[in-house]
Amino acid sequence: MLSAEEYRTVFEASPDGILVVAGDGTITELNPQAEALFGYVREELLGQPVEILVPESVRGRHGALRESFGHDPRPRPMGVDLRLRGRRKDGTELIAEISLAPVPGDDRGYVICTVRDVGERIRLRDFSEAALRSAEEERRRIARELHDDTAQRLATLILRLRLLARVEDDADQRVEVDAIREQLKEAAEGVRRIARGLRPPALDEVGLATALQAHLRDLRVGANLEVDAEIEGVDHMLDAEGRLALYRIVQESLSNVLRHAGVRRARLRLGVEDEAVVAVVEDRGRGFLVRDATERGGGLGLLGMQERAVMFGGRVAIESVPGQGTRVRVELPGSIKEQGHV
Ligand SMILES: Nc1ncnc2c1ncn2[C@@H]1O[C@H](COP(=O)(O)OP(=O)(O)OP(=O)(O)O)[C@@H](O)[C@H]1O
Ligand SMILES: [Mg+2]
Repeated sequence: MLSAEEYRTVFEASPDGILVVAGDGTITELNPQAEALFGYVREELLGQPVEILVPESVRGRHGALRESFGHDPRPRPMGVDLRLRGRRKDGTELIAEISLAPVPGDDRGYVICTVRDVGERIRLRDFSEAALRSAEEERRRIARELHDDTAQRLATLILRLRLLARVEDDADQRVEVDAIREQLKEAAEGVRRIARGLRPPALDEVGLATALQAHLRDLRVGANLEVDAEIEGVDHMLDAEGRLALYRIVQESLSNVLRHAGVRRARLRLGVEDEAVVAVVEDRGRGFLVRDATERGGGLGLLGMQERAVMFGGRVAIESVPGQGTRVRVELPGSIKEQGHV
């Protein structure tokens, strides 16, 4: 048998937050994990209504639900897979899985609430769902590009070749052959562009700087986006995966400029600062509210950048001011190569 003190230790050591709430909704006990989850110290919560931990928008409903639990108290999860939201002291919200159970043998309506922070799990799940969706969209985009651009060009060329056979005059024929050759070159360049977009040229062979220069050229020629670039060689500081991650992050930042900033000019700086590889992409375009964009969970680009950087022990800082522009700064630790990162 455990002593009362040992039970207390178990209560306090639980990896989940635990609160004991009286029948009238007053918090009567909580463990350190509950303090940490909600950002309060114990004394601030004791005697408070449990609604203090519920976001204002759902407080009204919460009281009613609590009463209905009182009428039919039995253990139950409050919403597995429902995104229950809690409110921290600083006003931010957490996403939690909450289970309720009546205190056995108690007739005063005491309820034990177990709270587990599942924010990270949900964020990851959202990310992988969105990643799947985006892969599908990407395929659609490539299919469209191949169909509308490459296939159209080739169809036109077939037609011109057929007509060429009927041209009698040698000089006329030569002019037409030259024109066709030019068109074929363009079509081939288009295919290369699509391929490069899918998978950058082997970064190991040509290096990050060259691969990025090629991408900037594509943006200039293919999309009329002019990028002022200062690119230092950083290949010696990153392994192949690190280089690819950096390439993808820069690519996404520039694609965001192209799609959202409403300007046709950007700046790219890549170099070494304090043993770290740093890339900065800047534009003086429309700008946006970073918090809104990431909370809405709409785009995958910004999220993906963060995920990639974090995977390599780095980080991404996004600053944007509506009406003034956007600055994305990526930092990857430079020792990835030595650590033999896989
Ligand atoms: N350079 C920028 N200038 C202005 N707005 C931007 C810029 N970068 C991002 N945004 C805003 O942030 C939002 C989120 O960007 P994010 O890259 O995550 O998604 P997206 O570009 O809309 O879609 P995708 O998943 O294809 O990248 C964009 O929809 C846009 O409103
Ligand atoms: Mg994007």
